[in-house]
Amino acid sequence: MSLKAISLPLLFAIFASLAMYTHLSLPNNPKFVKHLIDLSLKTFSSSPFVSTPMVYSALDCGLHRHKHHQDSTTGSLCDDFPPDFPPPDTNTTSILCVDRNGCCNFTMVQSAVDAVSVLSQKRTIIWINSGVYYEKVIIPKNKPNITFQGQGFASTAIVWNDTANSSHGTFYSGSVQVFAANFIAKNISFMNVAPIPKPGDVGAQAVAIRVAGDQAAFWGCGFFGSQDTLHDDRGRHYFRDCYIQGSIDFIFGDARSFYENCQLISMANPVPVGSKVINGAITAHGRTSMDENTGYAFVACTVGGTGRVWLGRAWRPFSRVVFAYTSLSDIIASEGWNDFNDPTRDQSIFYGEYMCKGPGANTSTRVPYAQKLNDTQASIFLNVSFIDADQWLQPYA
Ligand SMILES: *[C@@H]1O[C@H](CO)[C@@H](O)[C@H](O)[C@H]1NC(C)=O
Ligand SMILES: *[C@@H]1O[C@H](CO)[C@@H](O)[C@H](O)[C@H]1NC(C)=O
Ligand SMILES: *[C@@H]1O[C@H](CO)[C@@H](O)[C@H](O)[C@H]1NC(C)=O
Ligand SMILES: *[C@@H]1O[C@H](CO)[C@@H](O)[C@H](O)[C@H]1NC(C)=O
Ligand SMILES: *[C@@H]1O[C@H](CO)[C@@H](O)[C@H](O)[C@H]1NC(C)=O
Ligand SMILES: *[C@@H]1O[C@H](CO)[C@@H](O)[C@H](O)[C@H]1NC(C)=O
Ligand SMILES: *[C@@H]1O[C@H](CO)[C@@H](O)[C@H](O)[C@H]1NC(C)=O
Ligand SMILES: *[C@@H]1O[C@H](CO)[C@@H](O)[C@H](O)[C@H]1NC(C)=O
Ligand SMILES: *[C@@H]1O[C@H](CO)[C@@H](O)[C@H](O)[C@H]1NC(C)=O
Repeated sequence: MSLKAISLPLLFAIFASLAMYTHLSLPNNPKFVKHLIDLSLKTFSSSPFVSTPMVYSALDCGLHRHKHHQDSTTGSLCDDFPPDFPPPDTNTTSILCVDRNGCCNFTMVQSAVDAVSVLSQKRTIIWINSGVYYEKVIIPKNKPNITFQGQGFASTAIVWNDTANSSHGTFYSGSVQVFAANFIAKNISFMNVAPIPKPGDVGAQAVAIRVAGDQAAFWGCGFFGSQDTLHDDRGRHYFRDCYIQGSIDFIFGDARSFYENCQLISMANPVPVGSKVINGAITAHGRTSMDENTGYAFVACTVGGTGRVWLGRAWRPFSRVVFAYTSLSDIIASEGWNDFNDPTRDQSIFYGEYMCKGPGANTSTRVPYAQKLNDTQASIFLNVSFIDADQWLQPYA
């Protein structure tokens, strides 16, 4: 495939991957940038631009690290590794270490999860060294209190490429699936690099992570995918300083979540000037009844990227989403929200905006059921009491 055959969406995919470096001015890690580009190229082009062998050589390197490690020419691989790491257990914490080059306890994240004892009341910190971990990871319900500590979301990532078709449906396509309570992730990315669905594709949904345990917190994490990136499924969740990329319904589920200072980046295809096409949605919240206390609150976030998208569409009739103090770019469709083409939902949907700014924040032509919240209505969505944080959320520390 020649350079000029690179499609626009592909370019935007690459730019979106790169955007985080410039916006967040993270320490530059050229190797990881290259990796992301390779993955984006592979993922987001219809015919592979980067040859499969190239991606596999990266994989291969991970699979054969023991050999490298013992090889005298690469014996220095672990020299930079912190000595005496991990430290011994304390009364409250165990630490397990994952390094894909074989420099400590485990080379795969799942092996470390498997080593955590069942129903531990202690927190187990799984320290994950920089690198791309090509594996599907599941944290079962009986392994609460696990922390994934990466080295920065631009340098540590768990990557897989299942789709709804290749797993047992969208809900099982996640590269990482968390069923346990009290999960914490810091400074790590979750990616699904399955091919971007073409319009009309069926079964191409590809989740990066499914969060199905209560009381989960994500600090400085990245979520990369296209359709259905972040399955914010159920329970109470906190997301801070995160980068979330996708196209259609890219934050979806029926959780009660508070998103603070996050970047939401749409990868929907660019829409020609003058066209009224809407080709994506940031959220698809799935609240099913009035009695459910679920919903997504976005506070002090930024929304940008490409395409023309809704802030949310009503996956289920009582869908509840609020954007507050958030900067909205012109990718937001002026109507703002969508009822999933079911007008009976207009009465039960709760879609609110409060003190947002930017070209996408003009509410004058919003759908009639969208609400411009007053101070009283907005208040419950504006701080972490929305997710009962005083009961469980620990500071970043
Ligand atoms: C840890 O537990 C042991 C055994 O129960 C106890 O003797 C020790 O004082 C505890 N240490 C701390 C720092 O709490
Ligand atoms: C991890 O490595 C440390 C240091 O070598 C060791 O003390 C500890 O027992 C290992 N833990 C596991 C579960 O293998
Ligand atoms: C461990 O998980 C249990 C069940 O989710 C929870 O009650 C407990 O507070 C957690 N402990 C820690 C140290 O997070
Ligand atoms: C890890 O995340 C925290 C919280 O978002 C952030 O303040 C910190 O700079 C991040 N560290 C690295 C190494 O990326
Ligand atoms: C995931 O990637 C592998 C290696 O490129 C490929 O064989 C497999 O078909 C892909 N799976 C999906 C669902 O695209
Ligand atoms: C998913 O599977 C269905 C039924 O086998 C098929 O029609 C469809 O093309 C598949 N989708 C993709 C993206 O491969
Ligand atoms: C909002 O949009 C309406 C309709 O397009 C326009 O008349 C109005 O000037 C806009 N308001 C601002 C503050 O841009
Ligand atoms: C805010 O809106 C609610 C619902 O429309 C209304 O009942 C309430 O009086 C309003 N409060 C203020 C302070 O305007
Ligand atoms: C959080 O918001 C609630 C309103 O829902 C308010 O009562 C409370 O004082 C606020 N807490 C903080 C710490 O601002």
